[in-house]
Amino acid sequence: MASGKLRLGVNIDHVATVRNARGSAWPDPLRAALLAEAAGADGITAHLREDRRHIRDADMEALAVGLGIPLNFECAATDEMQAFALRLKPHAVCLVPERREERTTEGGLDVAGDEARLATYIAPLRDAGCRVSMFIGHDARQIEASARIGAAVVELHTGHYSDLHAEGRLAEAEAELAALRDGARLAASLGLEVHAGHGLTYENVAPIAAIPEVMELNIGHFLIGEAIFLGLEAAIEKMRRRMDEARV
Ligand code: PXP
Repeated sequence: MASGKLRLGVNIDHVATVRNARGSAWPDPLRAALLAEAAGADGITAHLREDRRHIRDADMEALAVGLGIPLNFECAATDEMQAFALRLKPHAVCLVPERREERTTEGGLDVAGDEARLATYIAPLRDAGCRVSMFIGHDARQIEASARIGAAVVELHTGHYSDLHAEGRLAEAEAELAALRDGARLAASLGLEVHAGHGLTYENVAPIAAIPEVMELNIGHFLIGEAIFLGLEAAIEKMRRRMDEARV
C-alpha cells in the first residue's frame, strides 16, 4: 500500500472558461484558487494556452502574486511560453503538447521524439529555479527521455484510464492502470518525481492515488463542475478525502 501524503493540485482553468463565455470579469480564477488553497489544495495549476481560450496572461500574473501555495504553470514548449515562465518564475512548469483544434490536452508530450530541443528548452527554466515537469504517457521511452533531458518531474497522463473507466471497459482500464503503475515505478527508479492527472473524478481517483510512487495529482474539470453542486471548498475536501483514504 502507498504511504505518505499525496499532494492535490487544483487546476482552475475552467473557472476562466466560464468567465470567458460571457466576456465578463467573473468568476475570478484567483478567487477560486484562494478558495482552493483554503480548502486544502497543495498547489494550483493553470494552463496558459496559445489561443488563451481560458486562462489569460493577467490571470497567471495575479496567481503568481496572490497565491500562498505553489503555482504550476502549464504550457506548450514554445518560445513565447518560455519567456513568460522566465519572467513569472513559478514553482513548477509543466510542459504539455498543444493543438489548437483539441478540446483538451489529448495525449502526452513526445519527449523522445524532440529530445535535443527539449533539453535545451528546459535548461534556462531549471536555472531559474522552476521544477520542470513533462506531461507524458506511461511508455518507457518517454520516461527515460524525460530523465535524460534533466526534467525533475513526470506527470503521467491518466486520460485514457479515465475514459475507459467512464465507458465501463473495466478490464481495459485495469490494464491501463497496470501500465501506469509500471511507468510510475520506472520513473521513480530514474530519480523522477511522479505526478498524475487528467480526467480524474471521485469514482476513478482511488487506484491512481494508491500508486505509491505518485506524489501529486492534478485535477481540474471534474472539480470545477462539481463545485456547481457542492461548492468549490466542499468539492475539493471530498476529493482530498478520497485521495487520503486510498493512500492509507
Ligand atoms: N494535468 C495536465 C498536465 C493537464 O493538461 C490537465 C488538463 O488541463 C490536467 C492535469 C487536469 O485534467 P482535468 O481537467 O481533466 O482534471
